[in-house]
Amino acid sequence: MTAARTLSPPRIAPQPTVLRTVGWSDYDLVDSGHGRKLERYGQRTVVRPEPQCLWSPGLPSAAWTAADAVFDPADEEDSGRWRFREAPIEPWVSGWGAVRFHGRFTPFRHLAFFPEQAANWAWLDQKVRSAGRSLNILNLFGYTGVASLVCAAAGAHVTHVDASRKAIGWARENAALSGLADRPIRWICEDARKYVQREIRRGVKYDAIILDPPKYGRGPDGEVWRLFDDLPDLAEMCAALLSPDPAFLLLNAYAERISGAALAGLLADRLEGRGGDITWGELVLVESARQREIGMSFYARWTA
Ligand SMILES: C[S@@+](CC[C@H](N)C(=O)[O-])C[C@H]1O[C@@H](n2cnc3c(N)ncnc32)[C@H](O)[C@@H]1O
Repeated sequence: MTAARTLSPPRIAPQPTVLRTVGWSDYDLVDSGHGRKLERYGQRTVVRPEPQCLWSPGLPSAAWTAADAVFDPADEEDSGRWRFREAPIEPWVSGWGAVRFHGRFTPFRHLAFFPEQAANWAWLDQKVRSAGRSLNILNLFGYTGVASLVCAAAGAHVTHVDASRKAIGWARENAALSGLADRPIRWICEDARKYVQREIRRGVKYDAIILDPPKYGRGPDGEVWRLFDDLPDLAEMCAALLSPDPAFLLLNAYAERISGAALAGLLADRLEGRGGDITWGELVLVESARQREIGMSFYARWTA
């Protein structure tokens, strides 16, 4: 007979942990200042707006004017246009660990992957490899799939959900580039909430869940996603999807008014009575020129 386990509330770490990403062969935050950042993606350098860089650049202006591409923002949101020094740059192959993925210039000022997520990729890789079993992982808002591929490469079964058919197509391309096309990854183009509701009705369970929801988004049938309105219920539903022997839940968010402490508070609330530990904090990119740090996103991680 197995004794019923009485679990306490998750323990929230008393202090935030700042997770710093420094450059690697395929990415570097070269310099920053005057509201912009200068980055290297592979061989190319790129200038993008970054209002929080209130300081002066560390490198001479020649390093900035030589950039291969500059993003000219149209408004406060993420839209705008890329301006190329020469011909528009075709997608190129980037990598992190054993995973390969295309970098590409998207109309939303980013380059089809988020380098600061390397801190989460490293954590996921370690969690999956040290689980001692093949975890069944749900990745919601999975975009171009780097987190899904890191988990699959480490031996997990992955269900990757995203509302954008184009993003799913890019994620599948990235799986092929990584030599992971034959791994157990299900690619699902659907509204995250609808998918989770259906899985609950079907009685499906997952050992681990990853969520990186945007501040605002739309499902394939126009379903509206608003982080501050919709995340509490989605977190509740994710808790209901966890298997009896769960491994972890990772929540990341980029919205300006969110914080790691708020994400930790939400997880503690929705995972009440399940024990475990919650760590939380900020993902930060470290610049090469003067090691200044740019806060990029917030995270909370629950480990059972
Ligand atoms: C911030 S990105 C996720 C970044 C990704 N986790 C990564 O690190 O590369 C947000 C993603 O959410 C997707 N999305 C937006 N609204 C959605 C919805 N209602 N259901 C599912 N996915 C949605 C977008 O298509 C986009 O790919």
